[in-house]
Amino acid sequence: MKLSDTKATLSFSNGSPAVELPVYSGNIGPDVIDIRKLYGQTGMFTYDPGFLSTASCQSAITFIDGDKGELLYRGYPIEQLATQCDFMETCHLLLYGNLPGVETKASFAKNVKYHTMVNEQMQFFLRGFRRDAHPMAIMTGLVGALSAFYHDSTDINNAAHREVAAIRLIAKMPTLVAMAYKYSVGQPFMYPKNDLSYAGNFLHMMFATPCEPYVVNPVIERAIDRIFTLHADHEQNASTSTVRLCGSSGTNPFAAIAAGVACLWGPAHGGANEACLQMLEEIQASGGISKVGEFMNQVKDKNSNVKLMGFGHRVYKNYDPRATLMQETCNEVLEALGLQDDPLFKLAKALEKIALEDDYFVSRKLYPNVDFYSGIVQRAIGIPVKLFTGIFALARTAGWIAQLNEMISDPEYKIGRPRQLFTGSPRRDVLPIASR
Ligand code: ACO
Repeated sequence: MKLSDTKATLSFSNGSPAVELPVYSGNIGPDVIDIRKLYGQTGMFTYDPGFLSTASCQSAITFIDGDKGELLYRGYPIEQLATQCDFMETCHLLLYGNLPGVETKASFAKNVKYHTMVNEQMQFFLRGFRRDAHPMAIMTGLVGALSAFYHDSTDINNAAHREVAAIRLIAKMPTLVAMAYKYSVGQPFMYPKNDLSYAGNFLHMMFATPCEPYVVNPVIERAIDRIFTLHADHEQNASTSTVRLCGSSGTNPFAAIAAGVACLWGPAHGGANEACLQMLEEIQASGGISKVGEFMNQVKDKNSNVKLMGFGHRVYKNYDPRATLMQETCNEVLEALGLQDDPLFKLAKALEKIALEDDYFVSRKLYPNVDFYSGIVQRAIGIPVKLFTGIFALARTAGWIAQLNEMISDPEYKIGRPRQLFTGSPRRDVLPIASR
């Protein structure tokens, strides 16, 4: 963090002395005003619901320029990572800061591979859930439960524990997501296979059965790998901030990641891909493309509470670069599976076309986000809609754990403790019950 030549001065209309605040510059992106001493000097807090103007930490992992539509992992553009690297390389990059060479990649991938099995006892824990439980409810439980099974990686202040927890989490998430799926359809769990890639192995655990050999389709394998890469990290979003805040108390890494899973579930965040597909299915059921105009009128009506799911983003106010890459994957997968005329894909294109031309969306800088297409891809692959957010959680685990480890290694890290503007009753006395 470099001190900038600029200083910020905060002056008050009530005659209180002005306060000078230091300003820091990052390597790219906006400067930040350091308000850590503000309360001590003025007795005032800042007010920023949703943290729209607050940098909660310093980080060297992911950079987003929302106006340019740029996403960089450790400086590398997402377009290059998605087309020239795979998810294992991306995980290595996020965790260690560099893209691995051939040998390092092989040893990292091997390390991950040899941690993909979960303790057999996890099956019995999983069997305690109802078969129709939402996979994110199951994932929240399973990921938290890892801390009960892997005692040698629960000390967040121990670098070796953090490293093995990171590998375990990345390795076991596909196993857990696939187990949650197999459990919901009543099929036997499939053990991981070490001759497959990370994405191929996930497909195998999802779709193979013990009855016949399962051959991984390379187009689908690539698509899944790309979904993982595109979702691997995204700066200080709600779930990542949740992981950091939760981990800031010194809790174990599995518990902190479980908190991230819980946060991601919401429809304004990771649950958007599920909500987007449900929206498309509902429009399709009510008449399809002919009903798009009517649906858009509802979206634009403030009183309807209807949103165009998969559109809009808190940070991207130009376009989401991941949406472009996901659209490309969508075309590839639908073509490989002979689904070019898929009605939901056509419907999505029609909605996108109208939205991109409509003043309501243009003036509010609302563009498709990654989830607009990822749901269509996953549905085409045969992944049930309820599992979409689980797959997002699987991918984001790499980013969560990298961010958590970065936070713990930061000498400036403190337990998170936001303050508030209190709007409730001032002090009052309890009256005897008969006179209330
Ligand atoms: N459909 C219709 N209107 C929208 C949408 C949408 N999808 N998104 C935003 N708007 C409108 C808002 O109503 C608001 O209108 P107003 O200025 O007239 O009041 C304006 O656009 C600004 O919207 P905000 O909600 O203030 O924008 P914010 O940055 O807070 O919200 C969010 C971003 C939550 C993602 C929002 O766009 C949304 O709910 N989108 C749909 C859900 C979605 O796809 N989420 C996925 C996010 S990406 C991810 O997690 C991977």
